[in-house]
Amino acid sequence: MSAPKKLFVKTWGCQMNVYDSERMAEAMGASGYEATESADDADMILLNTCHIREKASEKMYSELGRLKEHKLARPDVKIGVAGCVAQAEGAEIIRRQPMVDVVVGPQAYHRLPDMVARSSNGAKVVDTEFPEEDKFTRLPRGPKARRAPAAFLTVQEGCDKFCAFCVVPYTRGAEVSRPVARIIAEARDLVERGVVELTLLGQNVNAYHGAGPDGEAWSLAQLVRELARLDGLERIRYTTSHPNDMSDDLYAAHAELDKLMPYLHLPVQSGSDRILKAMNRRHTAETYMRVIERMRAARPDMALSGDFIVGFPGESDEDFADTMALVKEVGYGSAFSFKYSARPGTPAAGRELVPDDVAHERLLTLQAQITADQFAFQTSMIGRTLPVLVEKSGRKAGQVIGKSPYLHAVHFEAPATSIGQIVPVRIVASEKNSLTGRAE
Ligand code: 5AD
Ligand code: SF4
Repeated sequence: MSAPKKLFVKTWGCQMNVYDSERMAEAMGASGYEATESADDADMILLNTCHIREKASEKMYSELGRLKEHKLARPDVKIGVAGCVAQAEGAEIIRRQPMVDVVVGPQAYHRLPDMVARSSNGAKVVDTEFPEEDKFTRLPRGPKARRAPAAFLTVQEGCDKFCAFCVVPYTRGAEVSRPVARIIAEARDLVERGVVELTLLGQNVNAYHGAGPDGEAWSLAQLVRELARLDGLERIRYTTSHPNDMSDDLYAAHAELDKLMPYLHLPVQSGSDRILKAMNRRHTAETYMRVIERMRAARPDMALSGDFIVGFPGESDEDFADTMALVKEVGYGSAFSFKYSARPGTPAAGRELVPDDVAHERLLTLQAQITADQFAFQTSMIGRTLPVLVEKSGRKAGQVIGKSPYLHAVHFEAPATSIGQIVPVRIVASEKNSLTGRAE
């Protein structure tokens, strides 16, 4: 048998891309490729790209620029572009960078091994279709390798919301939910391979409505309840949610299920009703606050994370002040904030921009508040005993790194044999990006 070929995958963007990269690597594994950590010795380089903001797309072209010499030195090395830039730009990528062999959109991943084989005689292969078949079931499974304790699992993909700034409805397509039985089978497989914590992924994950075994459409709460019955699966998270898709049964699930982590990513984007309307968010700041109230009523230890865009076209100082007021009112455990980036093909693309220096200043102001809140939340953990899922060995001997219910990295002393266990840890200190504790 010939030596396995080596595949290097570089991933940008959201957790769904991380999941997709794993699945593509598994699919290529079935075609004789094994993963490598460095591009230098790779026989194939796959860039899994993000198109959400302009900077994210540019990163792919700079990376291709860097890979040029590598390809000149070894023309047999395959270069593939996957993900949302692949979907949005298609064959244009090969026109700009002719050294690219394969361009595959997020809905056609199961065809990747075949596409790579077809490109063997120097042909260029592009597939950005949205095929009918379920790419997840069609992806060939690799060998049953042991997995890290925390894993992602895509349950829903695409978005029908059409926020005026967002490319997702175009790059990932319409909302599609995977059937319950397939998700449970995949979850069971992951648990057998050592997974203890699952994060269910979807662009609008709380709009999940996959076909259940009874023929009815199941809600996310029903799916979570079913997953919570799996022995060995100890923690369940889901992301990303939309405020308009919160439902009574999801609040109830949070109240009843200990396995459902008390941490929710719930983007609002802006605290100004005028801007929310211009963004086509179809909710107000108040309805958003009401969702949080209900979540906290169901689960008093619930913490929030969010996403914000500053400098959306038309945003005035007053609108921005509304955003700051909302941020202070919620007190986020963590939040992501971005300067608006006009994306071709989206409704807001042609609108007049807020001057860049104004947007930049607002971003700094918002980020200072978010960082202060994040720090205060992290510091409030000192003196508490938290259940920590041990994920890997630390840099120092005898030390491990785990994750709190709120996704804080926690360092403490414990044997490497504790990896995969949930250990009660008393938090003694808070560093910049992590907590330190002692196993109880
Ligand atoms: N400009 C800036 N930020 C954006 N996001 C999505 N589209 C844009 C854009 N055009 C942000 C939103 C979203 C997160 C994933 O990225 O905050 O929730
Ligand atoms: Fe984009 Fe809005 Fe859909 Fe989120 S809900 S993916 S921001 S269009």
